[in-house]
Amino acid sequence: MKNVSVIYYSSTGHVEAMAEKIAKGAESHGAIVKISRVQDAKVNDVLDADIVAFGSPSMDGNTIESNEMQPFITEFKLIPVEKKKCFLFGSYGWDKGEFMDKWIKTMLDYDFDVVDKYVIQEAPAKQDLDKCFEFGKRLVTY
Ligand SMILES: Cc1cc2nc3c(=O)[nH]c(=O)nc-3n(C[C@H](O)[C@H](O)[C@H](O)COP(=O)(O)O)c2cc1C
Repeated sequence: MKNVSVIYYSSTGHVEAMAEKIAKGAESHGAIVKISRVQDAKVNDVLDADIVAFGSPSMDGNTIESNEMQPFITEFKLIPVEKKKCFLFGSYGWDKGEFMDKWIKTMLDYDFDVVDKYVIQEAPAKQDLDKCFEFGKRLVTY
């Protein structure tokens, strides 16, 4: 059975709604899922998982959220993750996904294996949430 960790930051609930659907999708495919707000997440929630789905809005100048998510991610600059599989998701207001391109580069620099990404603008519509569920199901297949 696969251990899936979903770790996210959300200020107004858009990324949280995505995170919940991803978690449900993974669970529906038999994964053991732990979903955490990044404020509550521990390093071991990453290290102990087979795959981690990280979610953030674009904030603070077209980057991932800087007070909680960025420091959590930066911890892995020094902690070996040995190509830990991760899936990145999030939502932007106007940057057209620029924050996600930067985020992928950071994760690759920190030795994560980024298996896929999903980025939307503002609040998820029903079809976006359906897609999140599908991505969640797919997480157990990597
Ligand atoms: C304080 C704040 C800063 C933001 N900064 C950016 C930004 O730099 N670039 C951008 O494209 N969108 C920005 N946005 C828009 C958010 O990325 C967008 O509304 C997103 O859907 C929020 O997701 P959430 O509800 O999970 O927090 C900002 C929103 C807020 C509230």
